[in-house]
Amino acid sequence: MRKLLITGGAGFIGANFVHHWMGRYPEDEITVLDALTYAGVRHSISDYESRDNFRFVHGDIADEALVADLFQRHGFDTVVHFAAESHVDRSIHGPGAFVHTNVTGTHCLLNAARESWSRQPDSFAGKRFHHVSTDEVYGSLGENDPAFTETTSYDPRSPYSASKAASDHLVRAYHHTYGLNVTISNCSNNYGPYHFPEKLIPLTILNILHGKSVPIYGDGKNVRDWLYVTDHCRGIELILDNGEAGQTYNIGGECERGNLDTVNALCGIVDRLFREDAVLAERFADAPPAGGGEAADLVTFVKDRPGHDRRYAMNIDRIRNELGFQPRESFDSGLEKTVRWYLENEDWWRPLLDGTYEAWIKTQYKSG
Ligand code: NAD
Ligand code: TYD
Repeated sequence: MRKLLITGGAGFIGANFVHHWMGRYPEDEITVLDALTYAGVRHSISDYESRDNFRFVHGDIADEALVADLFQRHGFDTVVHFAAESHVDRSIHGPGAFVHTNVTGTHCLLNAARESWSRQPDSFAGKRFHHVSTDEVYGSLGENDPAFTETTSYDPRSPYSASKAASDHLVRAYHHTYGLNVTISNCSNNYGPYHFPEKLIPLTILNILHGKSVPIYGDGKNVRDWLYVTDHCRGIELILDNGEAGQTYNIGGECERGNLDTVNALCGIVDRLFREDAVLAERFADAPPAGGGEAADLVTFVKDRPGHDRRYAMNIDRIRNELGFQPRESFDSGLEKTVRWYLENEDWWRPLLDGTYEAWIKTQYKSG
């Protein structure tokens, strides 16, 4: 039985990971530490709160006293560190929070793990600190460049990716300097359930349902390598089980798509689902397909994101060859699952639209 500390477990990937892990290892003891920022959605994982082997702690990963106390009281053997400020657009407007959480917060966790584990008789044996990171640390690829490998030089270009790069370096330093058993995964763009509707895919789905314009930054030809979130969770599980301490693993979907193609695919799925189910037109009367139109009519080209990375692509040979990882979900089936999930889970996303998100999103790149 493992005792896991999962940071950021109320966020998109963290919540999916909690569901994944609870399904796979229902006896394990899980502590979620989450500050419930705008992106933290407690009801994504609230089903577990009545269980004896699950606890939710509302707090900041950069709170040294809190984190040290949690290690002391709960004796974690595994840390899976998701907590972060994660949205590039927000990092452009307010980089300070990214340095606080992604750099200082990660360091606080590393230090607490080192201090707590090094006091134990078996020291770091049987312990693991897994850091969840991003492909964005590697920078931006040209159209014909080979995909990022684990040895690609770091070249972060936004405050978000720079703060994640800094955190990756700290994690490696704790391995080399103190012997902490760390692993790092750098993953490409995820999509799926519980995704906060400021990111491209959920934003597109909800804007279509509300008849709002779907903003495409620049020429819409920026390329992302998409991975269904459950595949990411499976990759992290493989690393926790069999990954080598000190090692970095790239995870990706081998699924490069231009943004306009991704948005058009979503529009096609929504149009078809409205044709198949007349109730959707009653529930979402402002969506173009409810009135005989097409979702793609909402696509609007807007001013580009400053410093917008052109292309990401991940070479996943290491995790495939060493740990047997293979993405299972195709992009078509994953997108359809995702659209259906948002249609079936209005009670999850509706409260998010009533909060600060709505005011904030209006100020971002939506005209021009
Ligand atoms: P998210 O923004 O949806 O969730 C982040 C979570 O962290 C939220 O629940 C938030 O409340 C919490 N949090 C933020 N600051 C905190 C703090 N100071 N203390 C405690 N909790 C705090 O992010 P996500 O998309 O789920 O990403 C999770 C991790 O995966 C991040 O580290 C991100 O860099 C990485 N990642 C994300 C993607 C992606 O496509 N979303 C791809 C690769 C890697
Ligand atoms: P996003 O979901 O913010 O992820 P990331 O910036 O981490 O890749 O954006 C995915 C791509 O979609 C990225 O190239 C920016 C673009 N994008 C838009 O064109 N319009 C939007 O409204 C958003 C949020 C993103």
